[in-house]
Amino acid sequence: MKVLILYDSVFGNTEKIAMAMQRAIAPKHTVTAVRVGSFTTGMLDDLDLLVVGSPTRAFRPTKAVVSLLKGLSSDALAQGIHTAAFDTRVSVEEVNSKLLSAMVRLFGYAAQPIDKQLTRCKGTPIAQPTWFFVEDKEGPLRAGEEERAAAWIGQLVDRLPMV
Ligand SMILES: Cc1cc2nc3c(=O)[nH]c(=O)nc-3n(C[C@H](O)[C@H](O)[C@H](O)COP(=O)(O)O)c2cc1C
Repeated sequence: MKVLILYDSVFGNTEKIAMAMQRAIAPKHTVTAVRVGSFTTGMLDDLDLLVVGSPTRAFRPTKAVVSLLKGLSSDALAQGIHTAAFDTRVSVEEVNSKLLSAMVRLFGYAAQPIDKQLTRCKGTPIAQPTWFFVEDKEGPLRAGEEERAAAWIGQLVDRLPMV
């Protein structure tokens, strides 16, 4: 299977998640992990699975992720490309702020709008949007999150239909 993991990262945590995913499936699949800034539409050719991830910044994906996805045509993923979205975020429980909890309930996180854009481009979602926790805004990742990311993408590729 040909897999592209497209990500953005400011402090390096989302990149670590993307790399853990790449390492997990590299032995059996053709997988590339690419920062959004290096993306070209040719990378979608013959693709089986597109995974897009972003840090959550002010309840949204980064501007680079938003503008890349908005720039894709409405049939960019229509050739049967399966899709999945993830973000990194801080745990509301750990921040312990009632105001932040209320805002999060209202405005959410990055993975959901990514998933929406992938669907707009006629991707075929293969999983619910998911997330991985950082301990603080610059990291580190919560213990075990790289392993969880590796397991998550392993399940996704196992779900892909054989052609
Ligand atoms: C300006 C700013 C805004 C942020 N907004 C949110 C937010 O709305 N929700 C959240 O859970 N985390 C928020 N965070 C924490 C980020 O999600 C965290 O920095 C990110 O997951 C780290 O990933 P990276 O190392 O790949 O940049 C914010 C961090 C910064 C610096």
